[in-house]
Amino acid sequence: MKDPIFDLIEGEKKRQSEGLELIPSENYVSAAVLEAMGSILTNKYSEGYPYFDGVGCGRANEDDFEEWGESRIAEEILPNYRYYGGQENIDRVERIAIDRACRLFNADHANVQPHSGAQANTAVYFAWLEPGDTVLGMSLPAGGHLTHGAPVTLSAHVYNFVGYGVAENGDLDYADIEQKALECDPKIILVGYSAFMKIPDFDRIAEIRKKAEEKFGHEILLMADMAHVAGLIAGGVHPNPLDHGFDVMTTTTHKTLRGPRGGIILSKGNVASPLKKPEKTLANIPILIDRAVFPGTQGGPLEHVIAAKAVAFGEDLQPEFKEYAANIVKNAQTLAEELKKYGFVLQGDGTENHLILADVKKSFGFDGKLYERALDMVGLTLNANAVASDKGGAFRPSGVRLGTPAITTRGLGVEEMKTLAGWMKQVADICKLVNSEEELAEHLDELNKIRDEVRELALKFPVPAI
Ligand SMILES: Cc1ncc(COP(=O)(O)O)c(C=O)c1O
Repeated sequence: MKDPIFDLIEGEKKRQSEGLELIPSENYVSAAVLEAMGSILTNKYSEGYPYFDGVGCGRANEDDFEEWGESRIAEEILPNYRYYGGQENIDRVERIAIDRACRLFNADHANVQPHSGAQANTAVYFAWLEPGDTVLGMSLPAGGHLTHGAPVTLSAHVYNFVGYGVAENGDLDYADIEQKALECDPKIILVGYSAFMKIPDFDRIAEIRKKAEEKFGHEILLMADMAHVAGLIAGGVHPNPLDHGFDVMTTTTHKTLRGPRGGIILSKGNVASPLKKPEKTLANIPILIDRAVFPGTQGGPLEHVIAAKAVAFGEDLQPEFKEYAANIVKNAQTLAEELKKYGFVLQGDGTENHLILADVKKSFGFDGKLYERALDMVGLTLNANAVASDKGGAFRPSGVRLGTPAITTRGLGVEEMKTLAGWMKQVADICKLVNSEEELAEHLDELNKIRDEVRELALKFPVPAI
């Protein structure tokens, strides 16, 4: 009997092909990424690391790279630091993933083993903090991520998180950050977010770190969680925190980076002697991170996923990726302007990245959940999301969050953004007439008409690898 799972996969292929994906944290991988991820590398255990002579999990020496290229780097591995045999291929795969990640983000070191963005953040905390230590990060309602100390998470149980907010204009509230940094004695200052539309001033945060270090007399780790904008950084349309004084950057690999689901940790510092227990200093942060991922917080790495990360990083290093990153932002800015013309109130009045946060409650009077459901019915997928100082709670937030990474991968451009905004307005007009999700059924004819138009456009822009 055929396993029903395979029919469900076919169903999901149809859903993805016939609809348009506006969830800003999603994307479509290439056939090559998919092939690596679905490979027999999943059969292999490989606890440990593929240490390259003298550079731990660091970037290979630039001269060596020029002279030898990737294939030679993959041959020069010291085969001693795994806990299972049979690593001759796996070591080379992971080594290439590390090197490509370092090149992509100008990092000294990359740990490519975290199973997810949450795991990557957990490992950095474990590498640098003691239980009870303070982290200053963006609060969840302001746009931060759950792993930045939301009360329901492990991070909040083990460490003391102090939250900063966003200013009236949608920018980081630098005055608030400075005041809190000089009050709360942080061990980490964290810049990262899941719903924030501006480009952070990383240099300013680095200055705040310096002042706080002088006041409290100890090193403070500057950490950036760039899960959302990593692809924009790799594509050169967003500044790289590692070039602006930050020690560590975590990211997911499946959002704007267009790789498999997973996480990585990039850092600056000493990668030379990975085996000895290092002193807890910022210079040693790469080694501390490797120990915090394995054995600190994870067991065996997912080498099929690491292979897919390597393939995706190879794609991200190509010149076409720069064009893709620029188009993501161009599409997002066009869509934001079109939505504003239709009366949508946007947090921060627009966007500087891939992401848009629309306050539909303020714009039209209904909440984000109702709008999310109505858009789902026409094949436009996004998510209800809290806006700054939201009164709607987690289940009935006032806004919706949307973004352009996935539709830009499919090749939609500025003209399609205008069409999209028009559909979003038509659906908003229907939502204004109803009081609940159930009442949307009374407007099925109008919704189905839009659904047909969405399907027709979507099918003109095939999903890669389907
Ligand atoms: C800023 C940020 N950090 C971390 C994560 C967690 O990533 P994952 O879902 O892979 O654990 C996310 C995911 O949305 C995110 O937006």
